[in-house]
Amino acid sequence: MLRRTWVRTISAASSDGLHCARQVLTPQARRQSSTHDSARSSFATGSGAAVAAFATAATAFSLGNATAVCDDKKGRSRFTDSVIVITGAGGDFGRAGAMAFKREGARVVLLDASAKGLQKTEEALRAVPGPESLAITCDITSDSAVEGAVAQVEKKFGHITHLWNNAGVQGDVTPTLDYSLADFQKVQEINVVGAFRVIQCVARSMRKTGGGTIVNTASVAALRGTPAMPAYVASKAALLALTMTVAKDLAPDNIRVNAVSPALIGPGFMWDRQNELHATSGSPYFAKDPTTVGKNKLGGVPMKRLGSIDEVVSAVAFLLSEDGGYCCGTNIIIDGGLAMR
Ligand SMILES: NC(=O)c1ccc[n+]([C@@H]2O[C@H](COP(=O)([O-])OP(=O)(O)OC[C@H]3O[C@@H](n4cnc5c(N)ncnc54)[C@H](O)[C@@H]3O)[C@@H](O)[C@H]2O)c1
Repeated sequence: MLRRTWVRTISAASSDGLHCARQVLTPQARRQSSTHDSARSSFATGSGAAVAAFATAATAFSLGNATAVCDDKKGRSRFTDSVIVITGAGGDFGRAGAMAFKREGARVVLLDASAKGLQKTEEALRAVPGPESLAITCDITSDSAVEGAVAQVEKKFGHITHLWNNAGVQGDVTPTLDYSLADFQKVQEINVVGAFRVIQCVARSMRKTGGGTIVNTASVAALRGTPAMPAYVASKAALLALTMTVAKDLAPDNIRVNAVSPALIGPGFMWDRQNELHATSGSPYFAKDPTTVGKNKLGGVPMKRLGSIDEVVSAVAFLLSEDGGYCCGTNIIIDGGLAMR
């Protein structure tokens, strides 16, 4: 659903910036801008800045780091006053989501088992105007770590309104007969049991405060049975099925649960690495050289291009926000048409 939005672009220029911005905003938006955290911090970031406001018909319109987006009628963004927990926040998808949601007014909570990844995301977030964030090192295979993280968020922000349940591992890329059972179990422990643990713990918290929304990151691999990835495929298929039953169980508590299934996202390290792993997997379905593997994959995509991380985040934001308010137990496929039959 498209909606008219105010986009405030902030760039270092003049100390009259704040004044200019208030002049071009409607009186109502001006009132709102002085009362909302996100607006306050974006203007604060722009002290000594020129601020231009203009209307656009995009849902979320980003012009780089120094941009805040808000609704034109109420002066609020889609995620103003939200507390969005992101697992796997130290990874590529999680980092991009954290930046986008913060830009739209959310207080983002970054969870990841990797302290190094979290640090990178925290650094990236510093350049984004918006409210305060929180980063917690948290391994989703641990009950106490997940419970502790949720308790910490409740203490700091009072409640959790959204969860992007996104942490995941790929596991080995090895054909079925040679696949290690230990690795198979490890992948299920993180991608299925860990994801379920996070849903349970966060949903219990959401129920206490009136509800929320959850998006699980699955994969097109679950829909097509990518060769040499039995553990990953099984785990993401389980997550998709889980999304439906959990959506039914939690709908009465005003908690909406949905999933996204991306594929062929790139370019970048993950895309290259994936092609290398497939090329060396020994599977007859893949060429032996990574460049050919990549070309062959793209050949099967009707849109003949890779998808971007931003396109994944847009779908997640749609489902998390009221834009996707009637979506329940669904799965948005972001794959340029690859999985279409
Ligand atoms: N990149 C793609 O093309 C693609 C396609 C389809 C689905 N996905 C899925 O999207 C999600 C994010 O992928 P990404 O590309 O950002 O990968 P990524 O490897 O960059 O990020 C995944 C993050 O999950 C974290 N993580 C792993 N195990 C964890 C645990 N036990 N507890 C907490 N955190 C843990 C990792 O530390 C990492 O930061 C994953 O679930 C992945 O399976 C990715």
